[in-house]
Amino acid sequence: MLGPGGREHAIVRALLADPFVREVHAAPGNAGIAADVRTHDVDAGSPGVVVELARSLGSDLVVIGPEAPLAAGVADALLDAGIPVFGPTRAAAQLEASKAFAKQVMAAAGVPTAMARVAATDEEAGEALCTFGAPYVVKDDGLAAGKGVVVTDDLDEARAHASECFRAGGTVVIEEYLDGPEVSLFVLSDGRTVVPLAPAQDFKRIHDGDQGPNTGGMGAYSPLEWVPAGLVEEVLTRVAQPVIDEMAHRGTPFAGVLYVGLALTSRGMRVIEFNARFGDPETQAVLARLTTPLGGVLLAAAKGTLDQIDPLNWSPKTAVAVVLASENYPDAPVIGRRVRGLRKAAKVDGAHVLHAGTAERDGKVVSSGGRVLAVVGLGDSLEDARSTAYEGLALIDLEGGQYRTDIALKAARAEVSFTGPAAATA
Ligand code: AMP
Ligand code: GLY
Repeated sequence: MLGPGGREHAIVRALLADPFVREVHAAPGNAGIAADVRTHDVDAGSPGVVVELARSLGSDLVVIGPEAPLAAGVADALLDAGIPVFGPTRAAAQLEASKAFAKQVMAAAGVPTAMARVAATDEEAGEALCTFGAPYVVKDDGLAAGKGVVVTDDLDEARAHASECFRAGGTVVIEEYLDGPEVSLFVLSDGRTVVPLAPAQDFKRIHDGDQGPNTGGMGAYSPLEWVPAGLVEEVLTRVAQPVIDEMAHRGTPFAGVLYVGLALTSRGMRVIEFNARFGDPETQAVLARLTTPLGGVLLAAAKGTLDQIDPLNWSPKTAVAVVLASENYPDAPVIGRRVRGLRKAAKVDGAHVLHAGTAERDGKVVSSGGRVLAVVGLGDSLEDARSTAYEGLALIDLEGGQYRTDIALKAARAEVSFTGPAAATA
């Protein structure tokens, strides 16, 4: 397992629960992953280093968690070495690494998405912003871990973000604003066949009530009771399968997980973005409910045999994951602080703790990143799952730690709804 975060800890935990998985190793991992499996302190973003490690361990499968190793060509190097890998090649990972590329593929595959323009100068940006009007959406056209996007009613702020991206040598994608609730759907693919996981919802802003700056994600829940029946099927037929077919047609087949970020707008479903990896923290909630052993499924995606697996099985329970972040996240997180109460939190019935930015110092767990951990609660209802997660979180102590108190709250109160048509008509 490659990667350092909460998503990776969730995957490690699921792999350890798979009776067919003999051994799990992680690189670099974090304090929580290191408590579960053997970790290797190597650069998981270096293709040569990863191939060497996988060879020395005799790995049957390498699972790539984050986007950076994908963009660095780690999957390509493993494939060249004949080592099965879950995660797309560098060329296929362009679906995430370049927003402009993703838009081209969507256009070719007829996928409903926001109208968009690429801008390379202040003048082009100004024109595009006027065309679409407020609210303005300006996206850095590169990897920014979900943080390169500014959505604002303030034209000056929108212009300033574009200028900043140009100064850094980049281009921006400016697009039409999409209203309506967002859904994250993970679709596994072996390059041909698509297999969906359960939909989830992520909470991107740092503060309650969706206030403050965007983060990597402050919490998630799954499944979504309020989505229209047939949404997953619709996403498969209108989005995932056409995109996977288009990528194969281009000679750059996409094998791994296609993260489809959707807005359910008043005018129908629209793709906001693709990622070439599992979402964080949605994975923490989604995998908590998957009862089919994960290892075999990921191996089938790597080996091109997803058409032969049985339908996935899910727990009837609901999962809520709440992230504990460091003081000053997302701007300049304060790290290196003791994290206490982890054992107590893990003992809460129905709860488990997944580490993200943690490290071990003198036998103690300290924070080492912006998002420190997530507590996942499983329950018979969203309310149960929420209270379990928050009960666990209340037992954890991190100076300056921040978490949202309203993860899945609106859904628990049945205040999230979708009234538009099930799909785009245009
Ligand atoms: P992205 O990195 O493209 O996922 O964007 C990050 C977040 O910005 C999304 O999850 C949305 O909350 C918001 N966002 C992105 N594009 C749009 C859009 N066209 N309309 C409204 N919100 C958007
Ligand atoms: N939770 C959003 C992401 O993983 O990009």
